[in-house]
Amino acid sequence: MLKDDYQMFTVMIKDKTGIDLNQYKEAQMKRRLLSLREKRGFATFSDYGKEMGLQNDLFEEFLDRMTINVSEFYRNPERWDVLKNKILPVIKEKKNVLKIWSAACSTGEEPYTLSMMMKETRTKARITATDIDDTILKRAKRGAYPERSLKELPLEWKDRYFQKDGPGYEIDQKVKTAVSFNKHNLLKDAYPKEMDLIVCRNVLIYFTEEAKQSIYQRLADSLVSGGILFVGSTEQIFNPSEYGFEAEDTFFYRKQ
Ligand SMILES: C[S@@+](CC[C@H](N)C(=O)[O-])C[C@H]1O[C@@H](n2cnc3c(N)ncnc32)[C@H](O)[C@@H]1O
Repeated sequence: MLKDDYQMFTVMIKDKTGIDLNQYKEAQMKRRLLSLREKRGFATFSDYGKEMGLQNDLFEEFLDRMTINVSEFYRNPERWDVLKNKILPVIKEKKNVLKIWSAACSTGEEPYTLSMMMKETRTKARITATDIDDTILKRAKRGAYPERSLKELPLEWKDRYFQKDGPGYEIDQKVKTAVSFNKHNLLKDAYPKEMDLIVCRNVLIYFTEEAKQSIYQRLADSLVSGGILFVGSTEQIFNPSEYGFEAEDTFFYRKQ
C-alpha cells in the first residue's frame, strides 16, 4: 500500500534527524506542521520535506515549530515549594552530592531554577539538563531572559541571581556553572543512571500513549531506589506502580 503523504514526511525526518514523529500525538503535530507548510507554500508534506533537505532555514523553522519551547522559572510555584520544603530535605539526607536531571529543559529556566534552589538550601548537586533541540540549548547556555519568564520566581531570588540586561535579565554565572547542558532525545538516546531527582515536565503530553509508557519506564530505571520523578501539572501518572513508582505528592513519584 502507498504510504500517505504525512507518513512519507515522517520517514524523511527520521532519516535526516533520528526524530520519530510517529511517537508524538499525530493530530496535534500534523495541525502544527500543516500551518507552517502552508505558510511556506508547499502543497504536500513530501514536497516540504524534500525542500527541507536542501534549505537549512526551512529545517530549523520546522524544528522550532515541532518542539514547543515555552518555559518559565519556578513554573507552577506551589509544586516547586513542595520540592523545596518536602521532597528535597528527604533526598538530601542520604547523599553528599545529589545527581539531578532536568529532561527536556528547553531554554534553561527549569535547570536554573533547580540550581538556585540548591544554592538557597545549601544542597550540593550535579545538575544535567538535556533537550532534543540544539538551538534551544544554545539559548539556555546564554542565560538571557525576558521579564515574563521571571514572573513566578520568588522576588529575593530575582534580586540575588539576576542582573538587568536591557529590557530583560541575565542570570548569574554562579547559577550557570552548576548546570551542564547536553543534547538528548528522550525517545531514542540512552538515559543517565543513578539519578536522585529527575524533573521531566511539560513534554510527555506531546507523546503517544505508547511512547509515554516507555519513557516512564526508562525514567524509573534511571533513578536510584528512593529517587524522585517530578512531572508537569497535566501529566499525572495514573498507574504509577506499573513502573515501580509510588505517589509521593501530587506530580511527584518515588521509585520503590
Ligand atoms: C514545553 S517545553 C518544556 C520545558 C520545561 N521542561 C518546562 O516544563 O518548563 C518542551 C521541551 O521538550 C523538548 N522535546 C520535545 N521532544 C523531545 C524529545 N523527544 N526528547 C527531548 N526533548 C524533547 C522540546 O525541545 C522543548 O524544549
